[in-house]
Amino acid sequence: MSQHAIEELAQAVIARMDSAPNPRFKQIMTSLITHAHAMVREVDLRPDEWMAAIQFLTATGQKCDDKRQEVILLSDTLGISMLVVALDQLRGEIAAKASGTPATEATVQGPFYVESPPELPLGSDIGQGEPGEPAYYSGRVTDVAGKPIANCALDVWSSDGDGFYDVQREHKPGMHLRARFRTNANGNYRFWSVKPSKYPVPVDGPVGTMLLAMGRHPFRPGHMHTMLQAPGYQKLTTHLFDSTSEYLDSDAVFGVRDSLIVNFAAHAPGAAPDGRVMKVPYHSANFDFKLVPAV
Ligand code: BEZ
Ligand code: FE
Repeated sequence: MSQHAIEELAQAVIARMDSAPNPRFKQIMTSLITHAHAMVREVDLRPDEWMAAIQFLTATGQKCDDKRQEVILLSDTLGISMLVVALDQLRGEIAAKASGTPATEATVQGPFYVESPPELPLGSDIGQGEPGEPAYYSGRVTDVAGKPIANCALDVWSSDGDGFYDVQREHKPGMHLRARFRTNANGNYRFWSVKPSKYPVPVDGPVGTMLLAMGRHPFRPGHMHTMLQAPGYQKLTTHLFDSTSEYLDSDAVFGVRDSLIVNFAAHAPGAAPDGRVMKVPYHSANFDFKLVPAV
């Protein structure tokens, strides 16, 4: 094959899609073929290297089961999940004519969300008896103009102080360190949990091998996951990152946004902001969420 024919091959593949019925699918595949061929030409990919890539993708698929999604982990660690989240949020803000407003930034959902967590009264403690230092979370949910949003469902979930989610602890079944709260008439929320710890993404599969080969560590900084849903507003999935955590500048899944880094203030034992008397030291984190109207 001549150099010219090599360069024309991508176009020949694209031309075969002339009668593809779905124009969006055709657009995506055209771009995929264009960029994939360009990459192969750019690095002058060798047959053994392509075979290694095929074996890697095969092993990534084979690692998946009902508890483990290695393909999503691949997308996460290559920054593609975060890119899709950021583009989706921007699209939603533009549609709602709210781009450029101080809406809370979204970040990745991750694999540890559980549908329909237990709904608890404001102020409940979901960290009782769990490894980790107690932390009091509070703040307000408003629209981008500052109007309070009442009855907003706020799902929260996090790792414990040892870096494990409940779904990873087979010796301790059931839901832990997760709940749904609802904001009060002023849009306020409050609950107790633990200060989340840094933890590694799973490394016992092909993605772990890839990270090693890239010279990368697998850690995420400590974070509390949140998902907010209120009628008339766009759903928001995001995190609160502990400002003192390691790995804020090198999150394995590229999820950190400066606006989501929160001070977990340290307190000596004594009366907490909600009047609870703490016999041990604790932390407090305050964060206000701003939601964009639905379109
Ligand atoms: C998480 O934050 O729970 C997470 C996100 C992406 C990959 C692994 C874990
Ligand atoms: Fe997480």
